[in-house]
Amino acid sequence: MSLRDLLLKVAKVTYYPFKYRQGNGYDAEAYWRDRFARHGMSFRGVGHEGTEEVRNRLEYERSPREFQDALHKSGIDFAGKRVLEIGVGNGYYLDFCFPGSAYYCAVDITDLLFPELAKRYPEVHFVKADVCKLGLREKFDIILMIDVLEHIVTENDLRSALSNLKSCLADGGTIIIGPIHEKTKKHLFYVHFWSVDKVAAQFRGYAIEMYRPFRKGTLIVVRSPHERR
Ligand SMILES: C[S@@+](CC[C@H](N)C(=O)[O-])C[C@H]1O[C@@H](n2cnc3c(N)ncnc32)[C@H](O)[C@@H]1O
Repeated sequence: MSLRDLLLKVAKVTYYPFKYRQGNGYDAEAYWRDRFARHGMSFRGVGHEGTEEVRNRLEYERSPREFQDALHKSGIDFAGKRVLEIGVGNGYYLDFCFPGSAYYCAVDITDLLFPELAKRYPEVHFVKADVCKLGLREKFDIILMIDVLEHIVTENDLRSALSNLKSCLADGGTIIIGPIHEKTKKHLFYVHFWSVDKVAAQFRGYAIEMYRPFRKGTLIVVRSPHERR
């Protein structure tokens, strides 16, 4: 392990909690902006910061197979759909979900990577917003939120985020969220694992399908209770 990696590991449990803690939660906008400023478009930015780039990339390369397998089994197709992606990060999922979509809106709490992403995906509409305070008026056929839920660290924010997703969902639409973990557990100041039961409790009346494994957890597909008009 390099000295830089060792210092990052130590900072994660010492200096960073002190720097970013805010009430019961953390200043997610500042945390993610600073993290992307350190790592840019690399996988260390969106993956495990203390793990080498090459190992992060290997771990990421497993997820498309699991993701596409779940899409295939659930019959989800992005072609011609209005798509909302929350927490777009370095745009990893754009290659799988953007092609053929009718309209693609990519949200993130920091806009630090938007200029680079906009060069690569000029047709994607990028919006800087916190999912816990999302005020979009548009409706979407597919809402995608990958590796973001565990960075929502309070119950209040969990409720707000999932309620905001429901408000943006078109009749007949689908929400895809993952990974979701076995148990609800606080992990680090910016990581809180939520169990499938906790998440499912916010979707009473919606049909939920589960696909495993997905990034060491479960991918859930939530169907709108209202038929497409
Ligand atoms: C672990 S990265 C995952 C990025 C991407 N979804 C992926 O799977 O590669 C988490 C992403 O969510 C964003 N994020 C964290 N909290 C957020 C929030 N409350 N609202 C919107 N985006 C958020 C971060 O800025 C970051 O881009």
